[in-house]
Amino acid sequence: MNRSPRPVLIDTDTGVDDALALMLAFHSPELSVRAITTVAGNAPVDRCTRNVRGLLQVLHPATVPEVGRGASRPLRRALTTAPEVHGTDGLGGISATLPAARVPVVDGVDLILRMSQRYGRLLTIIALGPLTNLARALRRKPDVFRRVGRIVSMGGAFSVPGNTGPVAEFNVFVDPDAAAEVYGSGIPITIVPLDVTEQCRFTRDELRTLAPGRSPKISRLVLSLARGYMEYHRMTEGFVGGYLHDPLAVAVAAQPSLVRCEPSRVVVERDGHSLRGMTSKVGVRRSSVEVAVQVNRTRFRRLFHSRLLP
Ligand code: RIB
Ligand code: CA
Repeated sequence: MNRSPRPVLIDTDTGVDDALALMLAFHSPELSVRAITTVAGNAPVDRCTRNVRGLLQVLHPATVPEVGRGASRPLRRALTTAPEVHGTDGLGGISATLPAARVPVVDGVDLILRMSQRYGRLLTIIALGPLTNLARALRRKPDVFRRVGRIVSMGGAFSVPGNTGPVAEFNVFVDPDAAAEVYGSGIPITIVPLDVTEQCRFTRDELRTLAPGRSPKISRLVLSLARGYMEYHRMTEGFVGGYLHDPLAVAVAAQPSLVRCEPSRVVVERDGHSLRGMTSKVGVRRSSVEVAVQVNRTRFRRLFHSRLLP
């Protein structure tokens, strides 16, 4: 039975895997992307915003989402970016080649609250970056933001090492205070951590076999924006490709049965130098927070291959 697509807001620090996640979201019939808000993380927020607007010009989604520019820095901390992974422009150096942006930009936190007010329980927020915007929305109008149906958050590392220092995952490391406030908000949250996202990767050969027979323009875009990201993984992880952190979060929002989750009480280490951003969890019978602990990799890979490229 085909249900009507659910309204979705994507909050993103538009980096390379974020861009692949946006493409997957636009090609997922379960989701209707009504809004995209940007947050500083992989790159400064103005670059993330330019990346989203440029990608919309190329991807031409059936419904053009509203775009909001969000936080330029974490709640309390100085900003940490990841140019070594995503390039200084956040898109592997291709941002400047994207067409001039046309879609207007509004305030990101206002847009999150307006979507929360309009769609309430129907709204799913897919958070692909640091949770600064969501924490600001919660602080500004808690009653409105708490109307949101579910947050799917790519973040955290529980039974695996971190990717930003020994224990922290990048999104939580950048703004541990925001993560603690959002995870503790009582809003239904599905956390999609490195424990499952690092089991989902693509290789350059895969992309190359996917490309033919698909839209040449989009195939070229994917291969060019992923070039630096793949080189980073070759040097640090020993494979020419990349982890699909954010695309998995989008896929979980579209098809929750892709992962097995455990209700958990999650603790975020907010201070301390070496432990900042560490996430730990205790299994409980009932919680507003569930953590993905297993992923059906074969099903995800099939979904990613069939939907990424038009
Ligand atoms: O740790 C991976 C996450 O941090 C991904 O969302 C990536 O895009 C960066 O934001
Ligand atoms: Ca991201």
